[in-house]
Amino acid sequence: MSVRFNGKHLAKFVKDSEFAAIYPQVEAAHALLEGRNGPGNDFLGWVDLPVNYDKEEFARIKQAAAKIISDTDVLLVIGIGGSYLGARAAIEAMAGSLYNCTCKNTPQILFVGNSISSAYLNQVLSICEGKRVSLNVISKSGTTTEPAVAFRVLKEYLEKTVGKEEAKSRIYATTDRARGTLKEQADKEGWQTFVVPDDVGGRFSVLTAVGLLPIACAGLDIDKLMEGAAAAREAFSTCTPDNDCYKYAAARNILYRKGKKVELMACYEPDFAMMNEWYKQLYGESEGKDQKGLMPTSVIFSTDLHSMGQFVQDGARIMFETVVDIKKPHTELFIEKDPANLDGLNFLADQNMSVVNRKAMEGTILAHTDGGVPNIVLEVDSLGEFDLGYLIYFFERACAISGYMLGVNPFDQPGVESYKKNMFALLGKPGYEAQKAELEAKLR
Ligand code: PA5
Repeated sequence: MSVRFNGKHLAKFVKDSEFAAIYPQVEAAHALLEGRNGPGNDFLGWVDLPVNYDKEEFARIKQAAAKIISDTDVLLVIGIGGSYLGARAAIEAMAGSLYNCTCKNTPQILFVGNSISSAYLNQVLSICEGKRVSLNVISKSGTTTEPAVAFRVLKEYLEKTVGKEEAKSRIYATTDRARGTLKEQADKEGWQTFVVPDDVGGRFSVLTAVGLLPIACAGLDIDKLMEGAAAAREAFSTCTPDNDCYKYAAARNILYRKGKKVELMACYEPDFAMMNEWYKQLYGESEGKDQKGLMPTSVIFSTDLHSMGQFVQDGARIMFETVVDIKKPHTELFIEKDPANLDGLNFLADQNMSVVNRKAMEGTILAHTDGGVPNIVLEVDSLGEFDLGYLIYFFERACAISGYMLGVNPFDQPGVESYKKNMFALLGKPGYEAQKAELEAKLR
C-alpha cells in the first residue's frame, strides 16, 4: 500500500474499543457509498473514475498536452475552486513548488481566474509578453465569475497578439459535455473541448480532464497517476476494520465527537502546500454544512513551527493533527563537513537533509502529543505519480465516508451560493435589483 494509516501516536487519545464502537457507522457509510443510495448519489462518478474513464478523451488529453508542450512557453490555466486546486496541487507535489523556475522542455504554468485581482492579472499579462501563450479555461458551469472575467481578458489578449485564427488553436476549454455558456462559446469558436463529467463534482474532479490536461502539460505521467488511483480504489473499496482509508475517516469522527473540531493537516515537504489547499476544499466543502463539520486547516512544517508552533503546542486544545509523512523525497541532499565549524553544525556533517527533516517531524509529533494534540500519521511512499494518484483517491474516499458518518451530504455545496448572490446584486447584474437596494442599505 502506498498510503498507510499509522495510529501509534493516536493510541493515548483514542482506544481500540472506540474504533470498534464506531465501526458499525463506518459500515453504514460504506453501504451508502457502494449502494449509491446516500445523499448526493448523483455525484459518485469519482468512485470508479480510476478505471472507468473515457479512454478516447484520455488519448486526446495526451495529444493536446504534446502540442502545448511543443508550441507554448506559458500555459495559462483559468479556473477556480475544484476547477483549479487539484491541477495546481498535483503539479506542485509531483514537479515541485518551484516548477515554473525549473521547467525546461515544458511550459511555465500559471493559474489565473482564481481571484478577481487586477494586480495579479496584470502581472500575468506582463509575464506573457513576447511568449508563446496557450489557454486552458476550465469551468463546469461555464458561468463562474472569476474565471469568466479572466478568460474574457486573456482571450482578447491572445486574439490581439496572434490573431483570431491562431488563437483558436491555442484555446482549450474544459467544461460540461453539452450545456453552459463556455460550451456554447467553444462550439461556436471551434476550440478543442474536454469534459467535466456530470456525475463528478468540482472538488472530486482532479482525475478528469480538469486536472489531467494541465498535469500532462507539466510533463508528468498521467497513466501512472491513474494507475495509482486505481490501486487505491482496489485497496480501499472493501469494508473491513483494517481498511486504512476508513480508519482515517473513523478517527476523524471519533476526535470530532471528543471536541476536536479542527483538523490540522501537516506536512514536512513544501511541495505539499497546494495539496493542503486541495484537501481544505475537499473536506471543507464536503463536511462544513448543517452547522457541523471539522474545520480543515493546514501547515507546512518545519516552516510553520516558527509561526503556528506555539499555538499548536500550547493554545486552545481544539485540534488534532494529521501528519502526511512522505517517506522518500524527490531528491536527497547531504550536509558537508566544514573544518572551521563556526556555525557549530558539524554534528550534522555527512547527514542526509531528509533525515534531519524526519527527526524534526518525530520530535514535533512527540512534543505535540505531549501537549495534548492527537496525531494521526498518514505514511505516503513518495510524491511520485503513482503514489500521488493513490493518495488523491485515499483522501476522496475517506472524505465521502467521513461525511456520511457525520450525517451530511458530502457532495453538495449550498453555502457557496450566498456570497455570489450578494456580489451579483451589488454589481447590478440583471435580475438582482431587489436585493441590491437592501444590501446597499446594510453597507451604509
Ligand atoms: O467544488 C466545486 O464545485 C466548486 O469549487 C467549483 O469547482 C468552483 O466553484 C468552480 O465552478 P465551475 O467549475 O463551475 O466554474
